[in-house]
Amino acid sequence: MYYPDEVIEEVRSRNDIVDVVSAYVKLKRSGGNLFGLCPFHSEKSPSFSVSPSKQIYYCFGCGAGGNVISFVMQYENCSFQEAVQTLADRAGISLPEEEQDGAARQEHSLRSQILEVNKMAAAFYYYQLRSKSGQPGMDYLKGRELSDETIHGFGLGYAGKYSDSLYQYLRSKGIGDQLLRETGLMVFDERKGMLDKFWNRVMFPIMDVNSKVIGFGGRVMGDGKPKYLNSPETRVFDKSRNLYGLNFARRSRKKVMIVCEGYMDVISMHQAGFVNSVASLGTALTSQHASLLKRYTDEVVLSYDSDGAGIRAALRAIPLLKEAGLRSEVLDLSPFKDPDEFIKAKGNEAFQERIDQAQGSFFFELKVVESRYNMADPESKTAFFREIARRIAGFEQEVERENYIEAVAQKYHVSFDGLRRMVGTELMKGIRTAPGVSGSADLPSSESSSFSSGSARKRGSNADEGLHRSQCMLLTWLTEYPQIYPVLREYVAVEDYSEGFCREAAAMLYEQLENGEPVPARIISHFTEAEDQKKAAALFNTSEPGLAGEELKKAMRETIRKVMESGQKNAGTDTGMDMAALKRMIERKKKLENLGRLEIPL
Ligand code: GTP
Ligand code: MN
Repeated sequence: MYYPDEVIEEVRSRNDIVDVVSAYVKLKRSGGNLFGLCPFHSEKSPSFSVSPSKQIYYCFGCGAGGNVISFVMQYENCSFQEAVQTLADRAGISLPEEEQDGAARQEHSLRSQILEVNKMAAAFYYYQLRSKSGQPGMDYLKGRELSDETIHGFGLGYAGKYSDSLYQYLRSKGIGDQLLRETGLMVFDERKGMLDKFWNRVMFPIMDVNSKVIGFGGRVMGDGKPKYLNSPETRVFDKSRNLYGLNFARRSRKKVMIVCEGYMDVISMHQAGFVNSVASLGTALTSQHASLLKRYTDEVVLSYDSDGAGIRAALRAIPLLKEAGLRSEVLDLSPFKDPDEFIKAKGNEAFQERIDQAQGSFFFELKVVESRYNMADPESKTAFFREIARRIAGFEQEVERENYIEAVAQKYHVSFDGLRRMVGTELMKGIRTAPGVSGSADLPSSESSSFSSGSARKRGSNADEGLHRSQCMLLTWLTEYPQIYPVLREYVAVEDYSEGFCREAAAMLYEQLENGEPVPARIISHFTEAEDQKKAAALFNTSEPGLAGEELKKAMRETIRKVMESGQKNAGTDTGMDMAALKRMIERKKKLENLGRLEIPL
């Protein structure tokens, strides 16, 4: 459901952030803001702040931030739309019914029709499993030690021996062939017409985060092939954006998410109390999966099969997770094949122990890489260290790199300094080979080997970071001291902010200031993804503690200068400058020269 801006703004403004947050977090006033212990990371002294005037929250510890809608999204692990709904209910606002253009309405209604048919199919399979003819299915599931509660909870079902029972059933309910084709539940046979895709299998309905049935997996009850048959992708079933079990796992409130390979793994993990487990849908983990996970957690425990395929899958997943900002650890399940078998053999306490002992993903990679080199051969051993150095060079922060250098040096009894030089060499290589990099940019090498390429995240230079900070500083000041806007506007235009996020936020803030009060919380609801909201909240919460009076004014002038000068550089790169542009440039130059005398109305 898409709500117009005014509606969202109405919902936002009628839910005071202090009231809403206070229901979850104990807040204490300090100056203009309220502080409390951050609900999004564990801490002992409060760094979580709520600003009644800006109507936003921000944690100086973990960077969580946003407006009242983001808070509900983050706390309840729900989508933007769901949060808007919750808050509308809270404030007694009734939301408008959907308003869409023809094509969108049609697409929407087709999607909801498919979901409706999926639900009917799931109910049909569910019922079959409990009928007399479903006995083989029930026996199979019981044989795999699933309890009635688990079978019920996951909505498991059974597709019988006939190849058109579901088809006949759905037809009898008035569902037409055309819609059935869209559901992926049927296959079309030249001679026999429409047939069920699934038969003689136990059925696993696949649900999205909102527990809507989007597809199915079906398993043979023995050794037949293929072992699992999955629904094809449809309008409602995108395998790379959904994870099995996430509808339950998202409510688990555990610090980590456990990612396994199979449906059965997830189910038996949940049954054993590991309700924070999910699996991809018979495909490799994608970067979309990683971002999806990032909405609910900061850390992932990979619990893949202990065979070669599982190890390769883990190696491919690690950089994707890292790229999405997730820490990851890898479980060692040996000598068992997968979580399901492990739990059956050893029980959940032993599994918890393995989780507690899980290796950071770097050490997992290290072990795998080591097994590829002959450590008894000096040449091969050197190549091994070079490869490790390259991986370490992929870490963004220097402390991180130092920590890993130290750990590796200790583990393999080599000199810390020697290894550090190797890492340095790899870092330098990265700078030289990275395309279009100037000056001091600190880019790691672009990898040829498949599994750490994701770690080569592009980073700006320090200068870029400084500039970004200056721009954020201006935005923060503008929300805190709106009276400086008429002066600041003459110096720093919206175009002077870096393209993208910063400029978008600046444009909205300038417009608000042009028409009266700044409403940063409103700008945040412009972004519907939690990550973006967090970034937006950060734009208005750049901290420069303790500055006041002349000192503050001086800092403001300096910051204006920085942002203007970089803006000027960008403008100057335009070729074919006309007279008007030239005039503007000269005026700007004059302003820059007189900036030191600028009177700022504080
Ligand atoms: P069980 O043998 O039932 O315990 O299965 P598992 O969960 O251990 O599955 P396995 O590790 O063999 O496979 C993991 C996942 O890959 C499954 O959950 C399926 O989604 C998918 N998968 C497995 N076999 C097939 C297959 O033959 N075809 C397709 N399309 N997907 C499969
Ligand atoms: Mn298994």
